[in-house]
Amino acid sequence: MRALILAALVAFPAAGRALPVDGTRYAIIPRPSVLTPATGDFTLTARTVLHTDPAFAAVARRFARDVAAPTGFDLGVVRSSAPAGAGHIRLVRARALGAEAYTLDVTPTGVVVRASAPAGAFYALETLKQLLPAAIYREAPIGRTAWRAAAVHVEDAPRFAWRGAHLDVARHFEPKEFVKKYIDLLARHKMNRFHWHLTEDQGWRLEIKKYPLLTEVGSCREQTLVGPYVSDPAKRVFDGKRHCGFYTQDDVREVVAYAAERMITVVPEVEMPGHSQAAIHAYPQLSSRPDSSPGVLPVWGVSDFILNPTDSTVAFMQDVLSEVLALFPGPYIHIGGDEAGKAQWKANPQIQARIKALGLKDEHEMQSWFIRQMDTFLTAKGRRLIGWDEILEGGLAENATVMSWRGMDGGIAAAKANHDVVMAPGSHTYFDHYQSRDTAKEPLAIGGFTPLDSVYAFEPVPPQLTADEAKHILGAQAQVWTEYIPNAKQVEYMAYPRMVALSEVLWSATARRDYTDFKGRLPTHLARLDALDVNYRK
Ligand code: ACM
Repeated sequence: MRALILAALVAFPAAGRALPVDGTRYAIIPRPSVLTPATGDFTLTARTVLHTDPAFAAVARRFARDVAAPTGFDLGVVRSSAPAGAGHIRLVRARALGAEAYTLDVTPTGVVVRASAPAGAFYALETLKQLLPAAIYREAPIGRTAWRAAAVHVEDAPRFAWRGAHLDVARHFEPKEFVKKYIDLLARHKMNRFHWHLTEDQGWRLEIKKYPLLTEVGSCREQTLVGPYVSDPAKRVFDGKRHCGFYTQDDVREVVAYAAERMITVVPEVEMPGHSQAAIHAYPQLSSRPDSSPGVLPVWGVSDFILNPTDSTVAFMQDVLSEVLALFPGPYIHIGGDEAGKAQWKANPQIQARIKALGLKDEHEMQSWFIRQMDTFLTAKGRRLIGWDEILEGGLAENATVMSWRGMDGGIAAAKANHDVVMAPGSHTYFDHYQSRDTAKEPLAIGGFTPLDSVYAFEPVPPQLTADEAKHILGAQAQVWTEYIPNAKQVEYMAYPRMVALSEVLWSATARRDYTDFKGRLPTHLARLDALDVNYRK
């Protein structure tokens, strides 16, 4: 596919620049590698049939199901590699393409998709949807009869393998129905990783059969701070309402299957050794301060409570991970590792003795030792550990992938040490930041200022890296922390349209990124978000 695209770029050296902006006729987001306009339209009708290679039958059926609601059409899906008659959609296997690459030819007489794997075929049909009227995204018909897609030739493949978005369901719980909607929206932007932040000081949200108190006790906090964080406890105001919620293992299987149908891998996060107060409250034997019962944290900020790095805590967390592995088939398991304050380890003589006994230098090496136990465990099970960039402190575990959030430096250091990296810097990818400087007109947020054009300007590959080191940058992702985001509509408000910009950063070739062109396509795309009932910031 790369060769194909390169050839096309050489043949049309100014592709995407000399041509008029893609505008409303070709308002495809993220912008494809090659888009050659053509005249005429393809018309989708009730008699359109999807003729598909058997490898893409599930993808074809998903498309037929998606468009059934708004059109009222019950499109046929036929497994065949024979040329389809006029007016049909063909899905053809083209083994030379990359797994996520595709070509799409829309002509007045039919549509041809070429891909080597289901992901490519899926993305081709998402592009086809964007050529149809925005009403194709509605859940109910509105009596429209003409479903025309502009004729075009598209060649497309993603720039990055990791095109992700995170969601914190621990500070504020979100029901699985919304989690599915969030995932569905990612898929429509050709994103492929959902990072599910499941455990926190403020709540544990994942059923673990071996340790039922994690959710029976750890999934509820008695009350929640109202308004901005204040350090003086005497000045804090609380809402007086219990906040609860967790996902059963059946819920998780349902979400994981839903994501897989949309080519999205779910990356679960179970925080350790910090951000673990809810777990410590449920199982006090995990505590580094056994004399104090912490409760589930009702305020924001970083708790002092931290797991006690004993062998039995390691075994406990590995038991938890065993159940996590059974639920989440993807290669990456996120173990957190961020913001683990070491005060309790410093003050606890038994932990100090353990640091000495293990021959470790300090608390950072103690944390590193703890993370290494998880790395060895996950590696032995054929999985890969990923953690926030603090896992670099005290020595990076052998097989760890680093998620760089405190800027890009952690990611640069990790890539230079031959570790894979996912970029997640606060400067460009924290969608809990404000979208306007006029904060009085915005819902209360954690701070910061990350407007749409800043997100669009994000470059995940730092110039400090050599070409070989840059290969370790798997991609990047958005972060949606929910301390100040109490409900689903506000999640959407914070995530959109910034997620739209990020999708283009992560998918589109550098030469195809152009903010002016993006802004030209955006209004058409916002009409799609309207049809999808997304509460994006206007
Ligand atoms: C983080 O924002 N603490 C990863």
